[in-house]
Amino acid sequence: MIEFRDFSLTYPTGSRPALQKIDFIVPRGQICAVVGADGAGKSTLAGVISGVVPHMTGGETTGWARIGSRMLAETPASELVGEVALVMQNPFNQLSGARFSLREEIAFGLENLGVDRAEMVRRVEQVMADLRLTALADLSPYEMSGGQQQLLAIGSALVMRPAVMVLDEPTSQLDAVGAGVVFDALETLRTQGVTVILFEHRMERPARCVDRVLVLDEGRIAADGQPDDVLTDPRLADWGVAPLRYTTAARQAVERGLWEADRPLPVTLEAAAEGFDAALKGARTAGGL
Ligand SMILES: Nc1ncnc2c1ncn2[C@@H]1O[C@H](COP(=O)(O)OP(=O)(O)OP(=O)(O)O)[C@@H](O)[C@H]1O
Ligand SMILES: [Mg+2]
Repeated sequence: MIEFRDFSLTYPTGSRPALQKIDFIVPRGQICAVVGADGAGKSTLAGVISGVVPHMTGGETTGWARIGSRMLAETPASELVGEVALVMQNPFNQLSGARFSLREEIAFGLENLGVDRAEMVRRVEQVMADLRLTALADLSPYEMSGGQQQLLAIGSALVMRPAVMVLDEPTSQLDAVGAGVVFDALETLRTQGVTVILFEHRMERPARCVDRVLVLDEGRIAADGQPDDVLTDPRLADWGVAPLRYTTAARQAVERGLWEADRPLPVTLEAAAEGFDAALKGARTAGGL
């Protein structure tokens, strides 16, 4: 379980707190998305959960945060290895610099943990297959595209089988196919009972695979709830988060009287299609079409 209580953080150079009075609990096995505008504090929160902030960045904190029984302000990232894995926003920053093929780079963390060789090979091959990276196994991480490096960073985290996975905008450099691979991996993490905190700008794809959405606005939690409620909240744009295309399309249909009055706004393509289908059938029955 991850718990934040009245937690605030101010960077040494910050004029105002990057996180302000953060309160939330994420139970084990939950897949939780955090959305917010540029500078809202997403990477800062990702860093706190994974022990990088303030240990490696500096910063003053008040309140407290914990993962299980470990208090985060007293536990640096090095002590959370194996328990929490962070996929950073810029995958290039995460390359070890010590390994020169994708396969070796994915194995790097396991080598450091001293995992048995046969087990290591099995896990690395499995992760490469899951992320469709097998064909790139011998490529240098430095010759790879940003998107490929992003999948590699995710692979390096997955292979550690952490209890908590923190993904900071993991699909920002991926095309639709690559993003699909990442969201499929989320489903696998769900079946393994891994707690996932996914930081994202755009929620079209992940909306269907997350249990909960938090909105960060200028370092504060502006909303916290079910994806269906939070992502259709009319204040979303005020918090600097682009509404989902499906919700926007349905809202325009509402304005034109083409959306059933008691039907909630959709956050997935399927729910949008169902809503438009029902509206069309209703119009036909009424003899309008
Ligand atoms: N290492 C740091 N030192 C000082 N200030 C920082 C540091 N990292 C972030 N900040 C500041 O903290 C605030 C929150 O930044 P953060 O990177 O957490 O936002 P974000 O939501 O991840 O933004 P983006 O969507 O652009 O990635 C910003 O005002 C930023 O300038
Ligand atoms: Mg960020």
